[in-house]
Amino acid sequence: MTTFPIEKIREDFPILKETIRNKPLVYLDNAATCQKPQVVIDSISHLYSHDYANVHRGVHTLSVKATDRYEGAREKVRAFINASSTKEIIFVKGTTEAVNLIAQTFGKTQINKGDEILITSMEHHSNIVPWQMLCEETGAVLKVAPINLQGELIFKEFEKLINDKTKLVSVVHMSNALGTVNPVKKIIAIAKSKNIPVLLDGAQAIPHMSVDVQELNCDFYAFSGHKLYGPSGIGVLYGKQALLEAMPPYQGGGDMIRKVTFDETEYNNLPYKFEAGTPSIADVVGLGSAIDYLSEIGMDKIAAYEAELLDYATEKAKSIKGLKIIGEAKDKGAILSFVLDKIHPHDIGTMLDSLGIAIRAGHHCAMPVMDFFEVPATARASFAMYNTKQEIDVLIDGIEQLIEVFG
Ligand code: ALA
Repeated sequence: MTTFPIEKIREDFPILKETIRNKPLVYLDNAATCQKPQVVIDSISHLYSHDYANVHRGVHTLSVKATDRYEGAREKVRAFINASSTKEIIFVKGTTEAVNLIAQTFGKTQINKGDEILITSMEHHSNIVPWQMLCEETGAVLKVAPINLQGELIFKEFEKLINDKTKLVSVVHMSNALGTVNPVKKIIAIAKSKNIPVLLDGAQAIPHMSVDVQELNCDFYAFSGHKLYGPSGIGVLYGKQALLEAMPPYQGGGDMIRKVTFDETEYNNLPYKFEAGTPSIADVVGLGSAIDYLSEIGMDKIAAYEAELLDYATEKAKSIKGLKIIGEAKDKGAILSFVLDKIHPHDIGTMLDSLGIAIRAGHHCAMPVMDFFEVPATARASFAMYNTKQEIDVLIDGIEQLIEVFG
C-alpha cells in the first residue's frame, strides 16, 4: 500500500475537498458513479475552448482537430482493453445502450423462437430487461443460472443450462449489488466449446481491474465511462469484428451511412455503422483522458490497493453486531453491501449522509438479487482508488453511532 500514491490521487479529484453537512465528504457511492479527476474536467473544457467542431464532417481545421481528438480517444480505449482494432470499439451512451444494441441487432437477427439466452441471477436490470423485451418480440426464452448464499454463480447449474438452443450467454463480470467477480474465463471457455457468443457486462469490473478482451476471448464487452472516472453519457461496446460486420445497424442517421438515395442506403464501415448522428464528442475525449490517467497509475496497482481497502472494510464490518454482509464471494471487488438488524437501509443512508458519508441504499437496479436474499434493499459502500482506510473508519464509526441511536 505504501507505494500507492493515494495523497497525489486525492489531490487530483477536486470534489473530494467538498464538505457535506459541515463534514468532510466521504464518497463511497462509486459503484453508482465515480468522481472525476481534474485532467478529465480540463480536457472537456479545453476541447470546448480550443478544438471543438463536429467530427468526420468538415475539411476545416477545427473539424479535423476535433476528429483527431475523438478518434485518438477511440485508440486509447482500444489499447486499454487490448482490442485488436479500433473498428471493434463502438461509442454508445453507456452499458445499458450497449446491451440494448446487441439485443436489437445481433438478437433480432440471430435469435429466434425457442432459442435461449442465458444470464445469471445476479444481473442488474440492464442485463435482464433488454433480453426480456427481445424474448417477447421473438419468442425466445430467457434462462437464469442460480447463485448461492455467498452470492457466487453455481457453475455446475450454469453449465447444465447451456445446450443446443443457447444462442447467447450474457453475464456480469462483477456484480454491482454483491461485488462478486464471476469466473468469466471458465464461462467463456464452456460457451466457446459450443460456439456460443458471450457478452460480458463490464460496467463494474472495468474501474477495478485490468481487462484484456483478447485474453478473455469474449465476443462483446460493455462498459460505461462514468464508472471509469470519465464523463456520464458515454460508454463503449467492444465487439469482435466479424460479429459486428454481420450485424445490422442499430439506429439510422448521419455518419452511419456511405450513400443514401430514396431507394436504398449503403451503410458505413465499422465502427461508424453503429454511431448514427453527431456523437458525444466531448465525453469521448473526456473518457480518453480518464484512460490516460488510469493507465499512468496502473490498473494492477489500483486493483491491489482496492483489495486492501475491501479486506479492511470487511473485517471491520464483520465486527459490528447486527450487521450482515450481503455478498461474500471468494472473488470479490471493492463493494460492501450490508443490512442492519431493525434499521431500514434508507435510514442507514440518510443517517450516514448527515455525517458526510455518501453510500447507496436501495435495490441497486438488481431487484431479483434482493429477492434472492429476501431483503427489500441493502446499504452499499462501494470503494474507488481515491478512498482511504481513514474513510472506512469514518463509515464504521457512523454505522456504530446509528446502531446506538436506532438499534
Ligand atoms: N447500476 C448502478 C449502481 O449500481 C447505478 O448503483
